[in-house]
Amino acid sequence: MKTALSMLALALGVGIIFQGLASGADVAKGKAAFQQYCASCHGSAGKGDSPAAAALNPKPRDLSDKTYAASLKDPYLLQIIKGGGAAVKKSPLMPAIGNTLKEDQIQDVIAYLRSLAK
Ligand code: HEC
Repeated sequence: MKTALSMLALALGVGIIFQGLASGADVAKGKAAFQQYCASCHGSAGKGDSPAAAALNPKPRDLSDKTYAASLKDPYLLQIIKGGGAAVKKSPLMPAIGNTLKEDQIQDVIAYLRSLAK
């Protein structure tokens, strides 16, 4: 009986760990996607300092600024990245990426953005 219980506890524990891994966004993958799809405008570290940013009006803000980044909530980030600036009444020059990246890939990008703001 005792063995059965500890087996059950072990199975539950392993299950919880795997569930955590499955739902956890991947910062490294998010970084790679950001470099590929976003850095041309946002700069490789999200500071809005790419050469192209100089020509944008309004310019992308510094997404690594802790206070500013904290004011941007996750659902909003998901919406603007998925639907582009126009979806949230911001600059239409911020493109929609929802047809290129799946939602979990966008979550990885958001995790990367969060990792920049420290
Ligand atoms: C063609 C240039 C361009 C590309 C590529 C681009 N953006 Fe943007 N992005 C912008 C501009 C311009 C703004 C500023 C919009 C505004 O403030 O009206 C912006 C704003 C944002 C904001 C901030 C919104 C706010 O309220 O300050 C986030 C977050 C963002 N972009 C994420 C991304 C991500 C993630 C990618 C890649 C998947 C990406 N962008 C690709 C141009 C771009």
